[in-house]
Amino acid sequence: MAEIIQLDEDLSPAISALAHSLSAEIDEDNLPSDKFENVANILLNGLLDFPKIKSKLSSLLTDGKVCIWGENSDQLQILYHATSKSDTGKPHDHGSSWALYFQVSGVTRMSVYKDALGKKLPNESEKIELDQVFDMKQGTGIYFPPGSVHSAAHPSAPAAWIRLTGQDLAKLPRQVYDENTGLKK
Ligand SMILES: [Fe+2]
Repeated sequence: MAEIIQLDEDLSPAISALAHSLSAEIDEDNLPSDKFENVANILLNGLLDFPKIKSKLSSLLTDGKVCIWGENSDQLQILYHATSKSDTGKPHDHGSSWALYFQVSGVTRMSVYKDALGKKLPNESEKIELDQVFDMKQGTGIYFPPGSVHSAAHPSAPAAWIRLTGQDLAKLPRQVYDENTGLKK
C-alpha cells in the first residue's frame, strides 16, 4: 500500500475533519450514501479553500502517491496523487471498492467504460467499450461505484488529485484491460 505519512499542523486537522465528515456518509457495509458525491465535492472544495492547504499538499510530492488518511485498511483511504509529466492511463477497476477522484490542480482526462451490452459496471465482462470521456478540472470530483471501469490520463502536466476509496486497494484483486482492444488482461 501507499505509505501513510505524518501530516503537519495545517494539514493534519483539515484531513482529519474531512475524513470524519466523509465517514459519516459511509454505511456499515462500507457503501457511500446517495449524496456522497455531492457531499465529498463540497468538503473537498472546502479543503482547497483553507489557507496554505494547496501549497501544503503540493509539497507532499510531485510524482506518485501518498496515503494521507487510512490506518484501517478496510475503511476510508485518502490518497494524494501528483504527476509532473503528462501520461496516459490504462482501463482498470478498483476491485470491490468504490472510488472518488477529485482534481486538486491541472486536468485529468477521465475515460469511463461500459460492457458490450451497455452495462455501466462492466468489471466482470471479458471486453469493455468506451462510454464517455471528460476533462476534470480543479474542484471537480466524480464517484465510481464498485464494478466501474475507468482510465485516468493527464494530457498536460503538472496535475494533482485526491483519490478516496473504501478500502486499501493494494489488498484487493483488480482487473486491468487493454486500452486498444478493450480485452481483459
Ligand atoms: Fe482508478
